[in-house]
Amino acid sequence: MALPIGNAALEVSISPRLALIEERLRDAVAQSDRLADATSRHLVDAGGKRLRPMLALLTAQLGDAARPEVLDAAVVVELTHLATLYHDDVMDSAPTRRGAPAAHEVWGNSVAILTGDLLFARASAVVAGLGPEAVRIQASTFERLCLGQLHETVGPADGEDAVKHYLQVLADKTGSLIATSARFGAMFAGCDRKTVEQVTHYGELAGVAFQIADDVLDIRSDGDVSGKTPGTDLREGVATMPVLLLRQRAVGPDGTEEDDALLAAIDGDLTDDAALADVVARLRAHPVLDETEALATEWSRQAVGAIDDLPAGEVKDALIAFAEALVTRAA
Ligand code: IPE
Ligand code: IPE
Ligand code: MG
Ligand code: MG
Repeated sequence: MALPIGNAALEVSISPRLALIEERLRDAVAQSDRLADATSRHLVDAGGKRLRPMLALLTAQLGDAARPEVLDAAVVVELTHLATLYHDDVMDSAPTRRGAPAAHEVWGNSVAILTGDLLFARASAVVAGLGPEAVRIQASTFERLCLGQLHETVGPADGEDAVKHYLQVLADKTGSLIATSARFGAMFAGCDRKTVEQVTHYGELAGVAFQIADDVLDIRSDGDVSGKTPGTDLREGVATMPVLLLRQRAVGPDGTEEDDALLAAIDGDLTDDAALADVVARLRAHPVLDETEALATEWSRQAVGAIDDLPAGEVKDALIAFAEALVTRAA
């Protein structure tokens, strides 16, 4: 995809490095075992936006972006992301990913999970070359990713606010790695501590914004554009932001009978394609979808606020454009 940063000169300087990252990714996932090689290449070859390496390259522009460690760091974050996708599609029973059949659809759950593990191993091998601090950051990112997915799976505790719980899930499962992408770029380009801290905070908030927008896409997207199957989260009973807002609304003064009926349909059996399409259509037309979008925009604004103190210039402008693109994207 085109770089979502709105600056031709920066794009020219980043694009060749993104091309290098493509080569490095393919090398990093190659396996001598024939089956493992095919399963590991599956999602790299299928495409994807490469937003995390892009962000690392972008924040690196705040320092010495030419340092070779920056490329390694960008490879690490995409490999980590890739691994989580194999696992996530098993958890969500997702039929498609990046426009291709999800790995578990082709090879079964066990192979898909083990492929994700193999890719985590490869990410670890690359990050090891970046030194102990990078390894520690990668380990805590990975821990947060797992905990985010775990907490999404088990849901809020009795009496816990569901929206608050979910925002923490989003920060952990998605914000953590986007924060690390921004952090690694600045850190390995030799930026000062304050700059690294600011872009890390930016990445965390932008990651939450990105994931809230993803919840809208699950309902509003065209599968041909997103490469994913619309309604996957709904069918699997994942309590995403639009559904949580609908639940809140249904018990409040603005709740309507239609809201109750829609919730009953959401909580019902959605294995049938027509039932799922009906629920998706009703949600698309419901104000909670716009509310969810507004929330994504608000988090994206907060992300921009986190880099307020960065010196004015094209990199800061590009980071602002990037945060905005994360919530206005169609895929
Ligand atoms: C998908 O991430 C998983 C989420 C955290 C929402 P992306 O939307 O970045 O997926 P690709 O890499 O472009 O396929
Ligand atoms: C993905 O979350 C988060 C991780 C991969 C850690 P989702 O399940 O919401 O993302 P998509 O919609 O499948 O890409
Ligand atoms: Mg999913
Ligand atoms: Mg999921």
